Amino acid sequence: MSESDAANFKLFEAQGWTAQAGTYGELTGQVTSRFAEPLLDAAGVRHGDRLLDVATGPGYVAERAEARGAVPLGIDIAEGMVAVARRNHPELEFMVADAEELPLEDGSFDAVVGNFVINHLPAPERGVAEAARVLVGGGHIAFSAWLRPDRMLIMGLIGDAIEVADVEEDGQAAGIPPGPDGYRFADQAEFRGLLEGTGLVEVAVEPVVLVQRIADAEELWRGFMGGSVRGSAFVRAQSDAVRARIRDALDAVVEPYWAGDALEVPVAANIASGRKV
Ligand SMILES: C[S@@+](CC[C@H](N)C(=O)[O-])C[C@H]1O[C@@H](n2cnc3c(N)ncnc32)[C@H](O)[C@@H]1O
Repeated sequence: MSESDAANFKLFEAQGWTAQAGTYGELTGQVTSRFAEPLLDAAGVRHGDRLLDVATGPGYVAERAEARGAVPLGIDIAEGMVAVARRNHPELEFMVADAEELPLEDGSFDAVVGNFVINHLPAPERGVAEAARVLVGGGHIAFSAWLRPDRMLIMGLIGDAIEVADVEEDGQAAGIPPGPDGYRFADQAEFRGLLEGTGLVEVAVEPVVLVQRIADAEELWRGFMGGSVRGSAFVRAQSDAVRARIRDALDAVVEPYWAGDALEVPVAANIASGRKV
């Protein structure tokens, strides 16, 4: 990816997540926050650790880390996310920063984690190298990334609805700037190679599979539209009629997932971890 494409994509992300910051917690944040404990476990975070939470969003992982007695700093490229994190957790420290260019000293953290950010970085190798740079020797890193839509059904069901509505998923036509492959790290070997390529040792990649209860198709739709950037930008770029067709299709697509009075939707992610020598 060229430097100018990367800069455009980061601007798109920073603006997009700022716009979504107020609604993110309605569904997406409810799902991502469930991966916070497994992520902190993978990085071995414990009482007294100085922890960097890369792309903190509303601060879920930082909050859980503090509950363990760690001392977190949350950074995020989106000013709106940092504002929400500060409002939710005035006792914690947050700052606006780019994961690929951390304005932080070498060796200043005992652990570095990033919940669902690695798939948003134009140069994930740079992001992991930066995480390793600010880590002390012997410290641990952990990142999470979604599995593909056939295992991460929130995205999968929306994708199915787009297909049933007979809409071609052309991001470029929808004005979405070129960006990184959102599912590159659904592949365990890719994720392992990313961490090993930075010189980390004891690298492990473990899938974590959960079931998310969602009230109905409308909650799923609103959660997706208010809690994703690239995905919702594609749907928003459609005409009112096409968007309504996709929304209608979602009612049928979710049918097999009803369990009593709510939908039970499988969600899954890889968590990759490693140690700095
Ligand atoms: C899917 S959200 C995850 C937020 C949070 N970690 C969570 O667990 O819900 C992705 C986050 O990555 C942030 N982000 C995207 N690109 C970034 C970058 N280059 N540097 C720092 N944060 C970035 C976005 O602003 C957004 O808050």
